[in-house]
Amino acid sequence: MTTIPADYFDGVRWHQRWEVAPGVFTPGCNPVPRVCGNVGLPADLTGKRVLDVGAWNGCFSFECERRGAAEVVAVSLEDPEETGFERLHRLLNSRVRYVRGSAYALSPDELGTFDVILFFGVLYHLRYPLLAIDRLRGVCRGEVGEVFIETHVCERDYRLRGPLAWLGRTRLFSRLLGATPLWRQYRAYELHPQDASNWFGPNSAAVREAFASAGFDCEFVHLLEDRASFRAKVQPEPPERVLSQTYEAYPDNRRLVGLEHLGATAEPRCHR
Ligand SMILES: C[S@@+](CC[C@H](N)C(=O)[O-])C[C@H]1O[C@@H](n2cnc3c(N)ncnc32)[C@H](O)[C@@H]1O
Repeated sequence: MTTIPADYFDGVRWHQRWEVAPGVFTPGCNPVPRVCGNVGLPADLTGKRVLDVGAWNGCFSFECERRGAAEVVAVSLEDPEETGFERLHRLLNSRVRYVRGSAYALSPDELGTFDVILFFGVLYHLRYPLLAIDRLRGVCRGEVGEVFIETHVCERDYRLRGPLAWLGRTRLFSRLLGATPLWRQYRAYELHPQDASNWFGPNSAAVREAFASAGFDCEFVHLLEDRASFRAKVQPEPPERVLSQTYEAYPDNRRLVGLEHLGATAEPRCHR
């Protein structure tokens, strides 16, 4: 059995808590088994190709490998030597492949397509969330690919500004707005006093509608305080609206706006 030295976890900002070896845990606050349970990630991933977007320490990627995935690719912005990813990779003798890159640039030509995509703790950090969701769809396998989503949501506290801010924390307000998709935009440190990296707090309806608009059937799975989980199954085609009913869908415009990947071009039907 591998012995893990006492200083093994030093020098890394551990966000995830995961059992590396029996009784030995990465010292983070985000419990991997609980997140996987809340989102309904299958216990058996035998034979699946898995993509972990925004992997940070990589514990979700290694957990998928442990669950039998045939191949796991982790895509994240960080240097994997600095986040502990490489450290764990060596310890576990893992076959997970790390690609340093962005959700905005996910490409089936470069990465292939995936049966299972993890999109945990990333959505609200994105300045261009719909672009990322379009790209996720682009790397979903055929008609079977699924995205498991875990994210901050705003419906328990819309963080209204001004003297009526308390209203945004009431059950009545939450119920009134619950069916309406809303993206609450945050200033730096508005959501979290130590973290300026949060751009949007969608409510659950907004998460579902955003994924539906990109060609997924997205179901709500779980809500705990300001975190929610969803499961989005890829549909055969993106909706007609994306393919032909917007300015961006015009065949010439697709290249200009970087949406060449959208698939078959139908005759555009928007007003010029
Ligand atoms: C809060 S951490 C979440 C880490 C992990 N998925 C989890 O749930 O514990 C946010 C992660 O999102 C990643 N991220 C932020 N913007 C991104 C982008 N445009 N493309 C890919 N990853 C991004 C960061 O690099 C970071 O790894």
